[in-house]
Amino acid sequence: MAVLKKFRPRWWLSGRQSESADAHANIALVPPINARYDVRPLTVSQIDECWRLDQRCFVDGEAYSRDTFEYLLTAPESVSYRAVMQNSAMAGFVIGLLEPDHTGHITTIGIAPEHRRRRLASCLMETIESGFQRRDVRIVRLEVRASNVSAQKLYTSLGYSITQRLPKYYSNGGDGLLMIKSL
Ligand SMILES: CC(C)(COP(=O)(O)OP(=O)(O)OC[C@H]1O[C@@H](n2cnc3c(N)ncnc32)[C@H](O)[C@@H]1OP(=O)(O)O)[C@@H](O)C(=O)NCCC(=O)NCCS
Repeated sequence: MAVLKKFRPRWWLSGRQSESADAHANIALVPPINARYDVRPLTVSQIDECWRLDQRCFVDGEAYSRDTFEYLLTAPESVSYRAVMQNSAMAGFVIGLLEPDHTGHITTIGIAPEHRRRRLASCLMETIESGFQRRDVRIVRLEVRASNVSAQKLYTSLGYSITQRLPKYYSNGGDGLLMIKSL
């Protein structure tokens, strides 16, 4: 996920969100293995549901603030999607921006813990890449925490390559990796 410094939450590093995230994660029911999902555009109408889900996905103090979501989902250059269950509840989301240099920037992706390893992230990544492609984007970039091996495996499996290490990119001093894919 990208660090958007301007929109850091007020309760940055307070630890409160990690506790509530764990509490929510523990009570969520695991859906049946044959559960069906749809992919739909993500708009500012879903801001609160998306913000809550983000806090369950990023329990490392890097969850975005509501202001950040408002910025990301109302920006004209936003290219964002959600995966939903049959009852329309959100199981995952991906948010991207068209950058002025005509690259696509995936700022964040999250799948609810109980919906993971069902290829939802792969599906959302492919959908956002198609969305970018329709807007004449040829290069997609994203940042990922150097210690986030599962996300790196996801991106590598989709054809992304590490092009740069970003020392102390994250607020707790953790390094980031810049990953790029040509569409
Ligand atoms: C990373 C994340 C988005 C993956 O979502 P997902 O829907 O479970 O991913 P997929 O099912 O599409 O996985 C596709 C492939 O990615 C790799 N992968 C995904 N999660 C993995 C894990 N926990 N461990 C190892 N490999 C993993 C595997 O190669 C997997 O293929 P496989 O299941 O056939 O082995 C999800 O774990 C998440 O939301 N994590 C917290 C938020 C986060 O880290 N976001 C990324 C920020 S840069």
